[in-house]
Amino acid sequence: MTTPIIFDTDPGVDDAQAIAIALAHPDIELLGLTTTFGNVEVATATYNALLLSELAGQSIPVAQGAAAPMSKPKSPPPAHIHGANGLGNIDLPPVKGQPQPVSAGQFIVDTVNARPGEVTLVAVAPLGNLAAALQIDPSIVDKVKRVVVMGGSIREGGNVTPVAEANLFNDPHAGARVLTAGWPLTMVGLDATHRCVLDPAAMARIAEAQGELGKVLAGSYEFYKAFYQQALGFDGCCPHDSCALAWLMKPELFTTQRGHLNVVTEGHAEGQTIFAPEGRPFITERWSTTPLAEVCLDADGAAVVDWIVETLS
Ligand code: BDR
Ligand code: CA
Repeated sequence: MTTPIIFDTDPGVDDAQAIAIALAHPDIELLGLTTTFGNVEVATATYNALLLSELAGQSIPVAQGAAAPMSKPKSPPPAHIHGANGLGNIDLPPVKGQPQPVSAGQFIVDTVNARPGEVTLVAVAPLGNLAAALQIDPSIVDKVKRVVVMGGSIREGGNVTPVAEANLFNDPHAGARVLTAGWPLTMVGLDATHRCVLDPAAMARIAEAQGELGKVLAGSYEFYKAFYQQALGFDGCCPHDSCALAWLMKPELFTTQRGHLNVVTEGHAEGQTIFAPEGRPFITERWSTTPLAEVCLDADGAAVVDWIVETLS
């Protein structure tokens, strides 16, 4: 049985790895890529999305979306992590395709309404496009099959501030809407993704098997892994965005818990995700009033990386 998805992304080196998986996996039906600012400006994200699918020999609809956060000022893209072009500053060819004539939010709404109950939204970037879709048509809450978000952190701490993960930090207001919308939602945050390390031997196998796309994955990986060496002290990278797809296709590799999510939108802790486990009483009910969601608290990192390599080689 195939799993139809829309992949919402800001490619981005680890996004590119995940897009390659979505393109390659025989049981994933990639209905479209929706793009947002985040690792790069949104126009660059759109170019990269078109390019990656063309390099894989596929024609996938790409719809461009959010250029900035809903409320806070936009931070400059992290060129020191993903490169100024989002793909490690390697030389890239021109693209042939064009983005869709509709916005990312509208594309999500139209696609979900065309196949009610079937489509999973996999979001691995700041969440403005999903928030826009909710605003255009709130009824999609009951029509998506599931929403899988790479973002947030429960116990692991943050990666752009001591408490905030990048995707939630970049647009906490959109994140708050999406994580508390009441649709079936799984959050795959740093508690899971930091357990996974894609090492150089794994990337060499992927590069060998992925042709022209493999050259971009391997070249951008070289740039990206320098950041991990400096920040976390290991040789490799965390394949954050691939973990959202790994959870979707191999949930048994993750430890999850149900509970209530809140997102801090202002102040020192902006972008922090707060998790109140289901049924656990706190001093007031304040943290337990949002709809139930599922969060990943751990992952079998070696098995997740094996799955990534198998899918891409
Ligand atoms: C997330 O932030 C982005 O930089 C990555 O692509 C990933 O989606 C990790 O915190
Ligand atoms: Ca991303």
